[in-house]
Amino acid sequence: MKTKIIHAPDLAKARNRTKEETIFLSSSSKHFEEMKKLATGKKYFIHTYGCQANIRDEETMRGVLESLGYERSFVPSESDVIILNTCAVRENAEDKVYGEIGNLKKLRKQNKSITFAICGCVVEQPEILDLLMTKFPEINLFFGTHEIHLLVDLLYQAKTEDVRLVCVESKKGEVVEGLPTSRNNSYKAFVNIIYGCDKFCTYCIVPYTRGKERSRKFSDIMEEVRELKKANYQEITFLGQNVNAYGKDLDEGHDFADVLEEAAKMGIPRIRFTTSHPWDFSSKMIDVIAKYDNIMKCIHLPVQSGSSEVLRLMGRRYSREDYLRLVKEMRDKIPGLSLSTDIIVGFPNETEEQFDETLTLVDEVKYESAFTFIYSPRKGTPAAKLVDNITYETKSRRFKELVKHLEVHIEKDAAKYIGNTYKVLVDGVSKTDSNMLSGYTESNKLVHFKGDESLVGKIVDVKITESHTYSLIGELVNG
Ligand code: SAH
Ligand code: SF4
Ligand code: F3S
Repeated sequence: MKTKIIHAPDLAKARNRTKEETIFLSSSSKHFEEMKKLATGKKYFIHTYGCQANIRDEETMRGVLESLGYERSFVPSESDVIILNTCAVRENAEDKVYGEIGNLKKLRKQNKSITFAICGCVVEQPEILDLLMTKFPEINLFFGTHEIHLLVDLLYQAKTEDVRLVCVESKKGEVVEGLPTSRNNSYKAFVNIIYGCDKFCTYCIVPYTRGKERSRKFSDIMEEVRELKKANYQEITFLGQNVNAYGKDLDEGHDFADVLEEAAKMGIPRIRFTTSHPWDFSSKMIDVIAKYDNIMKCIHLPVQSGSSEVLRLMGRRYSREDYLRLVKEMRDKIPGLSLSTDIIVGFPNETEEQFDETLTLVDEVKYESAFTFIYSPRKGTPAAKLVDNITYETKSRRFKELVKHLEVHIEKDAAKYIGNTYKVLVDGVSKTDSNMLSGYTESNKLVHFKGDESLVGKIVDVKITESHTYSLIGELVNG
């Protein structure tokens, strides 16, 4: 089969951030009607890896596929379209994708009418894309994070031309409005406010895979929130690689604090956001979070390291002292604040003393939850070029030590919940015990309790009776 390259990725282009205005597009496709005929009565399978940005992209792709008449399936072997929506943030995220391709490729071998597509962040990396193309001739469509709005036309070409298609354009990115969406959930929703990232932390591939920071128009965001409110959604989470940067690329005069405030006034019961960079977290944002009851007092504030020198090498734009000052302002102004974080151990040449600074920072801040990672070199990023004199064994030992430190505070914090009653948004039947429901408190603690499935999607009062490191057990108050 011939390969047709519409666009191939290019890291130099992906790095480009010259100032140009964002292009706003509304969705359109040339082959919608023809593709509809091909889709009728057929099913699709999609598996998404990675962060909320990818999950939200999956919802858009599902919306597009379902608007064509495709029905969702969880069984790849009965599907006409198989899509793996990938993540490249660390090597182990990529490895999972290779494993799944290995399992699925036989389906396409047996049935050439299947479209086997790989999209998302992995294919944005030129060398990895080449490797995938060589290793897996069964994959017949590659498209990137900037091509989701082209899905109908790409599928049509893949179905009607005997070619293998590659459409991964390293560009700064547009904002596309009006694409259909099939949400994963009927009571909590993700709302994109800003795409891409311009921070270029030296270890991170995301700015290359997702393009430049570009904000949606304030009115488009609010329209989406209004619709979610009308549909009785109980929780929305504003999404961006860095939500604090919202609006800086537009001249509309709105910042992230305005987004939060306007949404809070609309009365959605729970408003969350992720992720906010500690660098440009404004006092105005803190004040708005403090002011509205329906903005959850819960901030994910990735610190990455407790050492100012490591932070400098990471290109994080704040020092340990800046971070601690920000935490203090947040805690002073927002009573009951719950803080979570991301930490990387084993950044190239991180010394034992620098690692200890991360431990002392963790002890000082006392996070209520944390995501911890061992540094993973990403080709094309500045940090990947550094010679690293720290062994993997050392990194691994530090990782375990860090988790132990974090858990001391997480457990202590969890114990404080016992005997008190909290509002819990019920998510579903517990994954570990089918007699129990599970849901999240306003502070984002996972709670398991006995109750009827009809409560799913509702906010109920639960009295906590028992605490574990990563979850709480409770009982429903008033039945
Ligand atoms: N935009 C978000 C998070 C993006 S990626 C933010 O800045 O907070 C999520 C987390 O993955 C990061 O916070 C970081 O802790 C981790 N991460 C990113 N690149 C990594 C790498 N090369 N190795 C290990 N962890 C990494
Ligand atoms: Fe990556 Fe840094 Fe951007 Fe987050 S802020 S996505 S860690 S470059
Ligand atoms: Fe992964 Fe891409 Fe998100 S690399 S973390 S899916 S932005």
